[in-house]
Amino acid sequence: MSSSKRGAFIVIEGLDRSGKSTQASLLHDRLQDRQDAGATTPKVVLLKFPDRTTAIGKMIDAYLRSESELDDRAIHLLFSANRWELASTIVAHLAQGTTVLADRYAFSGIAFSARKGLSYEWCRAPEVGLPAPDLTLFLNISPDVAAARGGYGLERYEKEEVQKGVRRVFNKIGRAVQEEGEGKWVEIDAGKTKEEVAEELWKAVEPLASGVQGSISGLWE
Ligand code: TMP
Ligand code: MG
Repeated sequence: MSSSKRGAFIVIEGLDRSGKSTQASLLHDRLQDRQDAGATTPKVVLLKFPDRTTAIGKMIDAYLRSESELDDRAIHLLFSANRWELASTIVAHLAQGTTVLADRYAFSGIAFSARKGLSYEWCRAPEVGLPAPDLTLFLNISPDVAAARGGYGLERYEKEEVQKGVRRVFNKIGRAVQEEGEGKWVEIDAGKTKEEVAEELWKAVEPLASGVQGSISGLWE
């Protein structure tokens, strides 16, 4: 790796049942296969938001499983805080030349909360300044196709009408990210086969796989 390069920060977003976690894990393995023998730092790390293992993550988990009730703004801020508690880890990995893959990020935070009627600007505010992704891959799937894939689980947002609303906000976020130059936003048709989707993702990721130039910026800053 050239000393002027840092790791790339790549985010995978998508609706529930879009195959997002499967694809994130395939992408992780593919990037890891490029690891040089004897390298001392990992080539790639895979993070998942919400990270349910932290104290904040446990509160989020209880909320998603409907074991607790929280004000819409309170849960929004917890999801955001759950990213902030990993922000310095993300930056440290990138600075070391490690590629960071995140399964969901700030865009999910905005999409799921704005759907409830909170304003886009209010939802975005606590996300401002988080490490900015270089590339966001949005796995798009129509809620009918997603529902036909074996149905949703039992968690709070796993319902067709919720997913429809979330998808509308995601489309708005994608346009805003492109217009504001907040990294690249690539939409992938997740209705295709697992192998086809993996190839599409790889086409977008490969140019960043051996690192990127430039410093890490703050999201929307
Ligand atoms: P998961 O299914 O990827 O574990 O995510 C759990 C749910 O939480 C999913 O329905 C999306 C939602 N979510 C938010 O509402 N806000 C957020 O900031 C994140 C990361 C996820
Ligand atoms: Mg889920």
